[in-house]
Amino acid sequence: MRTLKHLFSNNRKWADRTKVTNPDFFTTLSRQQNPEYLWIGCSDSRVPANEIVDLAPGEMFVHRNIANLVIHTDLNCLSVIQYAVELLNIQHIIVCGHYGCGGIKAALENREHGLIDNWLRNIKDVYRYHQEQIDALKDENERFDLLCELNVVEQVSNICHTTIVQNAWKSGQNVAVHGWIYGIEDGILKDLNVCITNRDEISRIHRMK
Ligand code: CO
Repeated sequence: MRTLKHLFSNNRKWADRTKVTNPDFFTTLSRQQNPEYLWIGCSDSRVPANEIVDLAPGEMFVHRNIANLVIHTDLNCLSVIQYAVELLNIQHIIVCGHYGCGGIKAALENREHGLIDNWLRNIKDVYRYHQEQIDALKDENERFDLLCELNVVEQVSNICHTTIVQNAWKSGQNVAVHGWIYGIEDGILKDLNVCITNRDEISRIHRMK
């Protein structure tokens, strides 16, 4: 109960296997991290960031929360973005949602879920912004899929609206913010083609001088 021995045993085997393929792996990584990507994804256990894009430790900086939200008062997420952009000089921020997201599904319901309702309320806002488009779909599953996608698009905008990303652009740093969605049923990633790379691509009201 207190030790979870099997996880430590898994860890030893993994570390040994890794050293067999690449004896310097841990020594090299221990010197510094130099990831090229920041991944903002869902906490869902079926959407493990590094695995689905086949990247090794050290290659991706990761933040995950329920329904991959970027909320402008969330110090945790904002700190991750600031560290990634300003200190690690990461040029690619990826928001990756997934179909079948439990957070999105819960937000579509009118049931109480406890504390988490305060978090899910942000998704209800996304629904409200796009209500006409979503409600135009007859099929419930299609509405669910569309909200999963639109939620990613909104979070891409939210990242671009931060002073962190806008200041990076102002100082000439290249930062591209991507919106992707992952299919749990087939393991396939889809690019939602909403990549934003400069301030001219965001709405005027959010653009800072
Ligand atoms: Co999810």
